[in-house]
Amino acid sequence: MSVNTIEENRSRNLFGDQDEVWLFGYGSLIYLVDFPYLESKPASIDGWSRRFWQGSHDHRGTVENPGRVVTLIEEPGAVCGGMAFRVEASVFAQLDEREKNGYLRVATEMTFADGSTATGVTYLASADNEAYLGEASEYEIAQHICRCTGPSGSNWDYLLELAIALRELGEQDDHIFAIETHIREIQGQTKPTSP
Ligand code: SIN
Repeated sequence: MSVNTIEENRSRNLFGDQDEVWLFGYGSLIYLVDFPYLESKPASIDGWSRRFWQGSHDHRGTVENPGRVVTLIEEPGAVCGGMAFRVEASVFAQLDEREKNGYLRVATEMTFADGSTATGVTYLASADNEAYLGEASEYEIAQHICRCTGPSGSNWDYLLELAIALRELGEQDDHIFAIETHIREIQGQTKPTSP
């Protein structure tokens, strides 16, 4: 699969006949909202875990020194909390550009806090994309993140802003918070600070 997924996403035309689509964000889409939306609310998806297993060549690292960013890994019984945005279908052109480094639009069912559900779209980077890095221990991931920076900023900021956003949402994500703790140890920090 090409590392640039723009054409693949465009040709999939997922929900292209609808004027508005629910987008589920679980990574930077939660805290870096640089796209127009009609409504947003916390949501979760069942059977998936958030993992720092995707490489980033274009945002938090480079081709030579890829950063680590999150993707979704199938895990029966898991629940991944994030933020849902109701967007006009035209917004996907901008989102495809932002998520082009291995992420494909896939259909997903999401559940809102009141128990209601909607079918929408999430960006998933599967193990067969060229930028995929795969599993590593949380300590190794923390060490890796500390070494990387890219055009969108440091890999550390990506992790830290995500951890802060998840805390604000009341999400307990052991993987993310364990990496955050390791990074603070590595950086010699003990108190939480803003990125
Ligand atoms: C997402 O946030 O939903 C996808 C991954 C990312 O852009 O960080």
